[in-house]
Amino acid sequence: MMRVLENQWYPVLESRELGHKLLGVERLGRQLAFWRTTDGLPHAHHDRCPHLGASLSSGKIINNHLVCPFHGFEFDRDGKCKHIPAIGRKGKISKAIAARHFPLREEFGFIWLWWGEESESYPELPYFNTLKVGWQYGTVVTEWPVHYTRAIENQLDVAHLAFVHRTTIGATGNSFVEGPYVEADEHGIKVWVTNSKDAGQRPRSPAELAETAATKEPGLRFLFPGVWLLNLSPRLKNFIAFVPINEQKTRYYLRVYHHISIPLIRQVFEFLMGISNRIILNQDKRVVLTQTPSNSLNAHQDRLIRSDRAVGQFRRLLARLLEAEAPSCQQKTIMNEGLNTSSIKDDALDR
Ligand code: FES
Ligand SMILES: [Fe+2]
Repeated sequence: MMRVLENQWYPVLESRELGHKLLGVERLGRQLAFWRTTDGLPHAHHDRCPHLGASLSSGKIINNHLVCPFHGFEFDRDGKCKHIPAIGRKGKISKAIAARHFPLREEFGFIWLWWGEESESYPELPYFNTLKVGWQYGTVVTEWPVHYTRAIENQLDVAHLAFVHRTTIGATGNSFVEGPYVEADEHGIKVWVTNSKDAGQRPRSPAELAETAATKEPGLRFLFPGVWLLNLSPRLKNFIAFVPINEQKTRYYLRVYHHISIPLIRQVFEFLMGISNRIILNQDKRVVLTQTPSNSLNAHQDRLIRSDRAVGQFRRLLARLLEAEAPSCQQKTIMNEGLNTSSIKDDALDR
């Protein structure tokens, strides 16, 4: 089973991806069946019929019931079996015949899936307050054959611009990293950084970095389990929702957020930003694909440096949060073997 944080809301689809047809997709290492009832509400089930294991997503939606294609069992939105044709309308249906159902929310143009224990109340969706009201956005969707840890870390890596993106956003060749200054807690990470020419300057002290950070918005933000924000300007942001598909694959919903509301201008702007973001992301992809091991929590041979503070914090927090989920002995061993933040000093990470 894929190891991801539990008891979290995961954005798993954009709203527009789920119409009124059944949709079978892989997310978080599971095959899931998504559908909508006639009131428009989305629903998700494990894509496996509890009878003999056929795929529910290849069935049909009839009268707000999900109907398995194999023997016609009918399930309601909560996954309860309501009808078994072979035993007739009067037949008694065992409660054990239920399609596992996942709580969902639909907000901010995403369908969010609760991965964890069902409960009376759930935490807020992990989404940036700054993006909640008044923005337009255009989305580019792409999938990389990489583990989600490497995908996320790449977007927190502030030292690769002059190399990976030397023909695009790193063309200035500014390879010296000022900072980064990093604040992190169990909800996420904030990063302040500037890159400059290497003129033999001394790195700025933690106090100097903190002073600058106090006056500015962070350039980068990340919220667990997987949304990221690049603060291009007060009125322009790049956003990524990282969706773990399985151990080998991560789906990116990359959005540009802006305030252009005139339809044609908006379309052209989103199109051009989409092309440019795709080019930049493809530059990243070429390198990230080559990283070994694919899951960075197993990367005990990685030797992090000062400019990797945000990456180090991500690893450390993710490991801590996973460990806090009362892992089995076996998982504990994996974590202890797998996480190496010892190569980066605590005092460098704790800011
Ligand atoms: S496998 Fe689904 S009804 Fe038999
Ligand atoms: Fe990059």
